[in-house]
Amino acid sequence: MAVVVPFESHSPPSIERLTSLVAADMERVNATILSRTGSEVTMIPEVANHLIASGGKRLRPMLTLAMSRLAGYRGEGHVKLAAAVEFMHTATLLHDDVVDESEMRRGKLAARLLWGNEASVLVGDFLLGQAFKMMVEVGSMRSLEILSTAAAVIAEGEVMQLTAAKNTATTEDEYLSVIRAKTAELFAAACEVGPALNGGSKDEQSACRSFGMNLGVAFQLVDDALDYGGKAAKLGKNVGDDFREGKITLPVVLSFRRGSESERAFWRRALEDGVSTDADLEQAIALMVRHRALDDTIQRARHYGAIAKDALALFPASSMKEALEESVEFCIARSN
Ligand code: IPE
Ligand code: IPE
Ligand code: MG
Ligand code: MG
Repeated sequence: MAVVVPFESHSPPSIERLTSLVAADMERVNATILSRTGSEVTMIPEVANHLIASGGKRLRPMLTLAMSRLAGYRGEGHVKLAAAVEFMHTATLLHDDVVDESEMRRGKLAARLLWGNEASVLVGDFLLGQAFKMMVEVGSMRSLEILSTAAAVIAEGEVMQLTAAKNTATTEDEYLSVIRAKTAELFAAACEVGPALNGGSKDEQSACRSFGMNLGVAFQLVDDALDYGGKAAKLGKNVGDDFREGKITLPVVLSFRRGSESERAFWRRALEDGVSTDADLEQAIALMVRHRALDDTIQRARHYGAIAKDALALFPASSMKEALEESVEFCIARSN
């Protein structure tokens, strides 16, 4: 009997619908971002604008704008909160590239290579300070609570990751705790402040938070697969950063667990000793292919993406809701 294969569209999932629905607000967010990097200390706007002008997907502020609309918010506060969310993200990138010793970000040299680690950390602190000033200006205590909690949790996640580095005994559960904290928490907060700003019900706030949390987990799973399977030119970051640094991400956890004793010896030497060559990276990728570690990491991302989409069930059908659902697919299929 013939098997009926369902027709599938071949156009890759896109973020375009979300982008166009929030375009007018996003223009104001970008203007706010630019005006808030100003300082008489000229090195501050130099460093901040180097990173900000290189673009970035602006996913998190778009989520804040989209969720506040989905929740029916009609005021002005969402623009400053979205800018604050992007500043928090920019600050974590400046700090993260120092911690990870990364050399490329958004297709350019990392700020730390141009201005040094000290300047990167301090300008990150400045942006974090500006983010909190904007939150106070908006005056929603609940939003301030959500975003300040996120700032603390992100730092906890990065420190947790530091303590797990080079430890091949790290479990998938431990890995998930790290990525929930370092990445998904900001996605969750970016989404939750939408209904929070509007004084939305607890159910609405939890639904938006759950969407962001699960999307954030999916997003980092894909990021960790791309660190081995992606292309630097598309990513705007170098491939293999996680490996060189001994970061234990899911592709490593799966390959280590599924590997033979000699393969495990390879992982221990390459990750724990902190000296690995380009040939080691090639070997690592070959082992990941052998054990389907990258495919299964993406498979896990699909699972969290599905949870994210179902979290929005309590909102009635709308073009914004559809655009948010499509943005989940985009995050999973993305190559940058
Ligand atoms: C990079 O985030 C940091 C991670 C959480 C993986 P993005 O991939 O959203 O970075 P930009 O803003 O688009 O550069
Ligand atoms: C993201 O993790 C951590 C942040 C909270 C910024 P990564 O270290 O994987 O992010 P990239 O790959 O450097 O963007
Ligand atoms: Mg990094
Ligand atoms: Mg990464």
